[in-house]
Amino acid sequence: MSRLVVVSNRVAPVDEGKTSTGGLAVAVLAALKRMGGIWFGWSGEVTTAPAPEPRLFDVGKLSYATVDLTPRDFEEYYNGFANSTLWPLFHYRLDLTSFTRRQYAGYLRVNNLFADKLVPLLEPDDRVWIQDYHLIPMAEALRRAGFKGRIGFFLHTPFPAHEVLLALPSHDDLIRALCAYDVVGFQTNRDLVSFRDYIIREQVGEIWDDGLVSAFGNVFKAAAFPISVDTDTIVRMAESAVKARQTVRMAESLGGRSLILGVDRLDYSKGLVQRFHAFERLLENYPENRGRATMMQLAPPTRSEVPEYAEIRRSLEEAAGSVNGKFADIDWVPIRYLNRSINRRTLSGFFRIAHIGLVTPLRDGMNLVAKEFVASQNPDDPGVLVLSRFAGAAEELTAALIVNPYDTDEMAAAMQRGLDMALDERVNRWQEMFAILQENDIEAWREHYITALDAAPYRD
Ligand code: UDP
Ligand code: G6P
Repeated sequence: MSRLVVVSNRVAPVDEGKTSTGGLAVAVLAALKRMGGIWFGWSGEVTTAPAPEPRLFDVGKLSYATVDLTPRDFEEYYNGFANSTLWPLFHYRLDLTSFTRRQYAGYLRVNNLFADKLVPLLEPDDRVWIQDYHLIPMAEALRRAGFKGRIGFFLHTPFPAHEVLLALPSHDDLIRALCAYDVVGFQTNRDLVSFRDYIIREQVGEIWDDGLVSAFGNVFKAAAFPISVDTDTIVRMAESAVKARQTVRMAESLGGRSLILGVDRLDYSKGLVQRFHAFERLLENYPENRGRATMMQLAPPTRSEVPEYAEIRRSLEEAAGSVNGKFADIDWVPIRYLNRSINRRTLSGFFRIAHIGLVTPLRDGMNLVAKEFVASQNPDDPGVLVLSRFAGAAEELTAALIVNPYDTDEMAAAMQRGLDMALDERVNRWQEMFAILQENDIEAWREHYITALDAAPYRD
């Protein structure tokens, strides 16, 4: 049987007990853990003297192969083109998008480096599955380095609307690189539509009746494969975590107040400032919640060497301080704001005791936290998910209370509705969402993708 080789910038040899943040690493680990395979990518180390060969090690059925980055690679590729150009652009933040040719050259250089280091490890019938925006040019690089097997790509972020993408000076190169794959996977139909739109409007290819795309001399499949969570594992985890010391401590500290919970990397795409203002509006418009509802926001810092991330941290501290200064009482702080990462087991316990899960990004590829919140609930007394229409998860989880994160009053009203919601409505909504997570769990995601890759039009 041919092997599955997954390639991503972030590689996480972790298990559920350890702390990790970032949907990609969590999802890839869950997808590969039982099936096994090879996981290739960045070691997380930045050094002036990278080891010449990938570091190889096994954990369970998974074989890891990781490479180091030099300070220059880290700056130009990771902090630079990946996280100062593509990330903001793909999340519709043209105001935060910068572009330099030096960083773009660094991005291409690291993609070539990854390909050169990976090729000697590959066998001709391996299936290579590249993950995310850091590594779009890798198929071209692997082909140049002589690999002839199947190569798929999956984008974990949104794919931007055509007009937004045009702001990127190298958009044509990037799309040509994307069209070199055998399968290109997106999170949602909305992303797929944006991609097809680009192909048609820029007249670089055709979409055939069967959905295949023909562009730049290649024929490939482009489709939506909404990523998911390890539903059964989270159910079990939450059932036991609810009795764990951390959760009990948390529940006791609430003193019977309702918990409104947010869990996000500290990223400007997550709409955290807007969320704090919406909670403030809840306290203004529905004063009965003063002293009765507590919002807790967990926001572990991320990509802290990119200036925009330092800026969002400052804005949030200011917003939390201002709400707390205005409403706090001697025995109640409205917003508990922690810049800490919490392990997923503990998180599942917190999700289970929360009355509301607040997942309100301004733009998000999928948002696994939304799905984890649903999977963690007590079926007999579930909490309510308040979900941004701009999270990929909103395409599937339509039984959540869907909100526009730019509309402060609407978000406050949704929180109030969630706090007031009768048990039977909560159960009905939860059942509808949980059924979707049972059908499309992380293994189903992997299987759908691999089936598509195996069926892809094949090159000789
Ligand atoms: N996460 C975690 N600890 C934290 C915060 C987040 O383990 O303190 C995990 C969370 O459970 C989820 C992932 O990080 O699995 C975040 O994925 P999501 O798709 O929501 O957002 P991303 O960070 O990928 O943008
Ligand atoms: C998002 C991206 C991933 C990334 C993760 C964490 O989920 O789509 O590619 O791994 O955020 O970010 P980091 O920069 O720490 O890898």
